[in-house]
Amino acid sequence: MRFRVCKSVAAVLAAFVVAVVFSLFYPGATAHAIDKNFHDAPDSAKAMKNPYAGQQEAIEAGKTLYARNCLACHGRAGQGTGNVPSLVDGKLKGVAEGEVFWFIIKGDKDNGMPSWEFLPEQKRWQVVTYVEALAAGKTAAPAGAVPAEAANASPLKDPPPHPPFTDFRYESPGTTRKITVNDLPEPYATESAENGAELVARPENAWPVAPAGFKVELYAAGLENPRLLRTAPNGDIFLAESSAGRIRVFRGITSDGKPSLSSVFVEGLKRPYGIAFYPPGPDPQWVYIGNTNELIRFSYHNGDLKASGPSQHIADFPTGGHWTRAVEFSPNSKKLFVAVGSGSNVDDPDTHPGEKGRADILTCDPANCELKVYAYGIRNAGGGIAVNPQTGELWCSVNERDALGDNLVPDYITHVQEGGFYGWPWWYIGGHQDPRHAGKHPELKDRAIVPDVLLQPHNASLELTFYEADKFPTEYRGDIFASEHGSWNKAVRVGYEVIRVPLHQTGHATGEYQDFLTGFVLPDGHVWGRPVGITVAPDGSLLVSDDGSNSIWRVSYVGK
Ligand code: HEC
Repeated sequence: MRFRVCKSVAAVLAAFVVAVVFSLFYPGATAHAIDKNFHDAPDSAKAMKNPYAGQQEAIEAGKTLYARNCLACHGRAGQGTGNVPSLVDGKLKGVAEGEVFWFIIKGDKDNGMPSWEFLPEQKRWQVVTYVEALAAGKTAAPAGAVPAEAANASPLKDPPPHPPFTDFRYESPGTTRKITVNDLPEPYATESAENGAELVARPENAWPVAPAGFKVELYAAGLENPRLLRTAPNGDIFLAESSAGRIRVFRGITSDGKPSLSSVFVEGLKRPYGIAFYPPGPDPQWVYIGNTNELIRFSYHNGDLKASGPSQHIADFPTGGHWTRAVEFSPNSKKLFVAVGSGSNVDDPDTHPGEKGRADILTCDPANCELKVYAYGIRNAGGGIAVNPQTGELWCSVNERDALGDNLVPDYITHVQEGGFYGWPWWYIGGHQDPRHAGKHPELKDRAIVPDVLLQPHNASLELTFYEADKFPTEYRGDIFASEHGSWNKAVRVGYEVIRVPLHQTGHATGEYQDFLTGFVLPDGHVWGRPVGITVAPDGSLLVSDDGSNSIWRVSYVGK
């Protein structure tokens, strides 16, 4: 940990020094653009000379740097993938090396090209030298296993799943699923699997898949651990880049589906996740942020793109274990809700005091916040809580426990009853005793609530949102969309998708859900994308953050 902090401080310092030196020598680089041809590079950039031009040593060094820093997006042979441009199709021919050098320092965050200013100057020139040689056919592409080839590996041969349980191979947009209490196997019916996501770069031919009539576009890329998304009352889109400690704001959508504006609202936070505006309604005064260790708030008014002052501390959270803290307000502004997940898989709070005040949804009066339990036995709803605008009820999306086999325990989405007990750690899905706590708390058996919608076990259900816009077909109105981050504790992975929970215009669930956005796993089981956050944009499209490919996807309805 200490090492990593030092490294990042060093990187920031290095970037700063590089930036200062750069702007001293090339003052025009950041000034008004003159040449509109190559990303508005200024004349001063064109004038820069590559001190290593054509040198074999620089090409070799640049190749290694390219493999490490650029290959995941631009492809092994520089051919580009998805929305990432090719570097070898001749477009760079008339471009001066100085302009390429200038562009990789600057990057283009909004369009998914990171800034490489933290690379020392020599290394940047080496990459440029390599890219030039590659485009001119003067050097080979980096050797070794390449992510894009994963797409051509053979599909998994495991036997098909037993419905209603499924796995990624059988997920398909529009498929309806329903798991009931009667479907649950005995604990340990299968072994506990170790099958975490092995991330690869998105191959060219991979793209999220939605039901017919929906279009999927890349809204933003090159983000750093994009997690929860929230739409502000004025339509701005707030994003928590959790491991980066940053809250970002996006505004608008250009004609080619990108944000028209992006701004850092605040940085330097400790693993921020939950975001909620207060008071609810059109004219918020505060934005509350659930950092992993504390609840804070910033003064906020419609249109603010940066925090105008320091944060105020509202409450402390226990740290360690499940770290996300989803935050929400009741529609009448009288209650603040925050979900604090367990510290462990299944430790008994009776014997593990660290679990006290966890695996709960907590509440307080926002005017004077002293947190108390609102609902309990909820292993981890830190990934998502939201009020149903139709009924005013609080709903949550929950990660249930692991290590009881492939098809136990279902994750779930449910409306939350005040004072309700949802089982963890002694009981699950109603009165099923966890074998690891046999004989304990018999008095709670009948109190354990069966949640509304049982999801695939282990699929790691995260943020949920209610679709109140009118741009999708009418039957979607009021439905829930939720992000399923994907399993590690299942032999053949499941989740890695966005689901729809139809509420049939009643505000209530029937236990069914549907696959909605799939395709984040390659046929051989490699993963390139993992949905986390989800929100409805002001234009009625659905935005989904993905911390596998570090991007945000936009799903809109275009009709048949
Ligand atoms: C996270 C993905 C990603 C990574 C990593 C990345 N790029 Fe890019 N790059 C992009 C995208 C997306 C664009 C298009 C940006 C735009 O449209 O303005 C781009 C554009 C470029 C361009 C301009 C190409 C053109 O035709 O306009 C160059 C040159 C480039 N990148 C070089 C690099 C180099 C060198 C590296 C490694 C040091 C790198 N990129 C790493 C995503 C990436």
